[in-house]
Amino acid sequence: MAKTITFGIQKGGSSKTTTSGIISYLLARDGYKVLAVDMDSQGNLTDLLTQKDLTFFEGKTILDAFKEDDARKYIYNVSENLDLLPADDFLATLAKFIYREYERKQKMDGNFLLRETLKQVKDEYDFIIVDTPPSLAEPMINAICASDEVVVLCESSKWAFTAIERFLETAIHAQMNYNPDLRITGILRNLIDSRRTDSKAFADLIESQYSDLVFSHLVKRKASTGRISLNGFDNNPELDAALEEYLPFYEELKQRVGIN
Ligand SMILES: Nc1ncnc2c1ncn2[C@@H]1O[C@H](COP(=O)(O)OP(=O)(O)OP(=O)(O)O)[C@@H](O)[C@H]1O
Ligand SMILES: [Mg+2]
Repeated sequence: MAKTITFGIQKGGSSKTTTSGIISYLLARDGYKVLAVDMDSQGNLTDLLTQKDLTFFEGKTILDAFKEDDARKYIYNVSENLDLLPADDFLATLAKFIYREYERKQKMDGNFLLRETLKQVKDEYDFIIVDTPPSLAEPMINAICASDEVVVLCESSKWAFTAIERFLETAIHAQMNYNPDLRITGILRNLIDSRRTDSKAFADLIESQYSDLVFSHLVKRKASTGRISLNGFDNNPELDAALEEYLPFYEELKQRVGIN
């Protein structure tokens, strides 16, 4: 039965997609069967993992899986161990689907839509990795309610810092009301700019405020990591350099979720 890990924070541009893409890639490379789930209508994880224009996925996305109650039909195979439930702009209509159709027909709380859909395929994977949009709306709550673990992303800025407390409140609310098995795996400090003293100061502040939650390894801002969005993972000549910053975090993550 797969372990489901959400990468989340409502602050935009905090490396949710980059991190969830890299972790999906690394787990698959290590031989684990991975399903990556794109819960963001921006479709960035879909783009990152497939290097395809999003128009390719029109009518073949996770929203279609939700509507037809059939996850398997919409799973796209990326590589030997890596599959994807893709997203495109139409996922922006998720709330409309939940409240107009899903809750009425299925007599199920709309917060459980993703959990119920993933149940169909959970046995086929070791890990399900969920990328989320920069908002606390339905896609994020669905991701949290479907997950065993949630990793909080935080880049080093004031607005990212102030988002953490609110995100944790939301996750704890979901844990108390919907998903008692949820664990907050930790807070990853990333996009740390070593040339900026304020960046280092925020990284330290997060550590002092959330000492019990922060991952000890933080991820620095690095040009080759940023360019993964352009070049993807296959035939990327600078992939080793791009992943370098993530490897210690990956090891720590595996330890925390109990796979080392
Ligand atoms: N470690 C890194 N070093 C350099 N650039 C990075 C790094 N991580 C992410 N980036 C870049 O920073 C930008 C934001 O990253 P990303 O899109 O992964 O964040 P996000 O939290 O998913 O954003 P959104 O909230 O819009 O979904 C992207 O252009 C990405 O390529
Ligand atoms: Mg993103």
